Amino acid sequence: MNQDASIFVAGARGLVGSAIGRALAARGFKRVLTPSRSALDLRDRAAVDRFFTAERPDYVFMAAAKVGGIVANDTYPADFIRDNLEIQTNVIDAAYRSGTRKLCFLGSSCIYPRLAPQPLNEASLLTGPLEPTNQWYAVAKIAGIKMCQAYALQHGFNAISVMPTNLYGPGDNFDLQTSHVLPALLRKFHAAKESGSGEVTVWGSGTPRREFLYADDLADALCFLMERYDSPEIINVGWGEDVTIAELAEIVAATVGYRGAIVYDRSKPDGTPRKLLDVGKIATLGWRARTRLPDGVRATYDWYLANLKHVARSDAQKTLESQRSCRD
Ligand SMILES: NC(=O)c1ccc[n+]([C@@H]2O[C@H](COP(=O)([O-])OP(=O)(O)OC[C@H]3O[C@@H](n4cnc5c(N)ncnc54)[C@H](OP(=O)(O)O)[C@@H]3O)[C@@H](O)[C@H]2O)c1
Repeated sequence: MNQDASIFVAGARGLVGSAIGRALAARGFKRVLTPSRSALDLRDRAAVDRFFTAERPDYVFMAAAKVGGIVANDTYPADFIRDNLEIQTNVIDAAYRSGTRKLCFLGSSCIYPRLAPQPLNEASLLTGPLEPTNQWYAVAKIAGIKMCQAYALQHGFNAISVMPTNLYGPGDNFDLQTSHVLPALLRKFHAAKESGSGEVTVWGSGTPRREFLYADDLADALCFLMERYDSPEIINVGWGEDVTIAELAEIVAATVGYRGAIVYDRSKPDGTPRKLLDVGKIATLGWRARTRLPDGVRATYDWYLANLKHVARSDAQKTLESQRSCRD
């Protein structure tokens, strides 16, 4: 990517999109396009076409998607499959037609088959049944990967698909109803410290192993892959090692300064025992993640403390949105 290239970051206000924005700014890119969802709803094909015709971005990072946990996927399966298919179809097609030089699409480790061997290798995609709880999201994401591959085959369009592991970082979702485990633990331990509570309950046995990648490390990998990877075959990006949920809880408690007890509620489901990506392919290209978990958790907690008001406002907004969706 030359310094005067114009770059569209779709979903620039999200966890990944904001990290890509920071990575591009640090590398000196000046022509970065970051329209908000209210300025450009990517489900609106005509609006997306108008945007690409007017701006003709050289590079596109696809960090916009409808993202959520098990409850959200279960409650709004139609929204998950429709929104994601619409967003990615509109953007990939408009990028190709307007002459974009390269597009980076994001898959996810959660779209590999439910029982694929660990660590998850790129060759495992589409080799078995999906996790039923997020199949709507997974099928849409797999369609996005296949669309990139089809446009590469038929049109020679340079579209790559990257498979990140679980992410965390500044700007994460801290809503206890919809957040992932790491921000949820940060919020719970912080609340317990503030209220002087002597006990925090963590769901499950604490033994499942999970991998966590700092969002800014992913953004660094995406910039690296934009420069050095031109294959339509998917490529994993992860930390390369996992921790138990109990180890994660200890790191979060130490970061927050919580000194009470941690209790494991074994009546709650553990989920899959292990989820780790095989990062051999990107390592061979010469990239590895740098941010150690305690350092990334510290930076995420600092962001949370600095944005407590913003987090509370966004909780209120999400409650309103879920009430609206229930009425629709
Ligand atoms: N977070 C993870 O652990 C993880 C792991 C693996 C892969 N990924 C992938 O990374 C990508 C980004 O995820 P994220 O965690 O950054 O999600 P996020 O924080 O929810 O950000 C998603 C972004 O997409 C935007 N968006 C959603 N619908 C839109 C629409 N109709 N029009 C325009 N913009 C829209 C959102 O806008 P608003 O801000 O207005 O809502 C938000 O900026 C996704 O493709 C996801 O599958 C994430």
